Amino acid sequence: MDLALIGTGYVGLVTGACFAEVGHRVICVDNDAAKVKLLQSGGLPIYEPGLEELVRKNTAVGRLAFTHSTAEGVEKSDVIFIAVPTPPLPDGSVDLSYIERVARDIAGAMTGYKVVVDKSTVPVKTGEKVAETIKRYCKSRVDFDVVSNPEFLREGFAVGDLMKPDRVVIGVRSRRPVAAMTQIYAPFNAPIVVTDIASAELIKHASNSFLALKISYINAVSVLCEAAGANVQEVAAGMGLDERIGRRFLNAGIGFGGSCFPKDLSAFIKIAEQIGYDFRLLKEVQRVNAEQMERFVKKISDTLWVLKNKTIGVFGLAFKQNTDDVRMSPAIELCQRLQKEGTILRVHDPKAMEKARAVLTGVTYVEDMNAVAEGCDALVIATEWDEFKKLDLERAHKSLSHPILFDGRNLFDRAEMERLGWVYKSVGR
Ligand code: UGA
Repeated sequence: MDLALIGTGYVGLVTGACFAEVGHRVICVDNDAAKVKLLQSGGLPIYEPGLEELVRKNTAVGRLAFTHSTAEGVEKSDVIFIAVPTPPLPDGSVDLSYIERVARDIAGAMTGYKVVVDKSTVPVKTGEKVAETIKRYCKSRVDFDVVSNPEFLREGFAVGDLMKPDRVVIGVRSRRPVAAMTQIYAPFNAPIVVTDIASAELIKHASNSFLALKISYINAVSVLCEAAGANVQEVAAGMGLDERIGRRFLNAGIGFGGSCFPKDLSAFIKIAEQIGYDFRLLKEVQRVNAEQMERFVKKISDTLWVLKNKTIGVFGLAFKQNTDDVRMSPAIELCQRLQKEGTILRVHDPKAMEKARAVLTGVTYVEDMNAVAEGCDALVIATEWDEFKKLDLERAHKSLSHPILFDGRNLFDRAEMERLGWVYKSVGR
């Protein structure tokens, strides 16, 4: 099918590349001319495992193209996906101005029946507003359908999540667009859930909030584990074997971050408030998340006593592994908290150093992970990169004035670290 993706951020670009990979003809639209130029010349604005190969391959065979003209995207496509940002406003609600702008642009360019699909994460009832907007701004009075098709990809695993989705959610007002949507997703062999538009919109916010709740739950349990001398990883393993619970997203740490969970939680709380429900449960999820960071900083200061002028090596800047994204990163927040206490930081991340430079200044960026410990008083693991498990512990041990490691992601085996002579502090163990 002929598809347009408006917005070439994480969702738009990866979705466009995966649609092309399964045989659709895809045109990706972005109003950032420099970004379009970069993509047209084979460059990528983000790091995402497997994406570069997909983009290169499908561009070469002519199934994937880039333009900054929405009109061109609309003209060349049967189905148009909106994948533009929905950033938070200061009060926690969602800024829908990009969505509205794109809806108007699509309306202005439509000359025949189109299916307009919202892929961005939006508050319930946005689909209705998009439909009203298109109707209002479409001069030629052509027929169209609005569909809600939320995205469930995780950064760092986006290509895999898209190629093998757990489910595809399609929210519609009538049966008419269902055939086209089913045809688009048929090659992915995933269960397709067809709902009304409001339910599809809610599925997205309810899912992200539930996953955030699951993380806060295990983080709260980690506090009990520490107090009781238990091991949160063993507790999580025991809980996770119950199929109703599942082991995934039960990793205790320094809290969740990123461009989705914090924003979507605030938005869901706000949406609930506007509908007349006080979602106190989710407010508590936020509180537990903030406290988890406090507790970790306290663990560091309790051990090192005076933080001022101590040199600390920090492993990880990205908000999680496999990405260069530092938006709302707990690792960056931790660095900034430590800086406030007067520490000197030597930091490393396998992919996120370039992006971190824009938000984290006054630190030394160290290219070689094994050189971070030089001249440090202690080390901290802030992001769950698998690479960090391969750290040369012997060299780090020798470099440090005293071998202390604060592991905010529980990457190392506690007994083994202690056997190797480390003062090792992790989370909930
Ligand atoms: C999240 C959801 O997982 C996706 O399903 C969703 O599509 C996406 O938001 C979105 O709305 O676009 P993402 O933000 O890429 O994906 O990252 P996650 O893998 O969910 O991790 C979020 C945060 O939770 C990270 O800071 C991670 O370190 C933390 N986390 C995750 C934990 O602390 N413990 C865990 O067990 C899992």
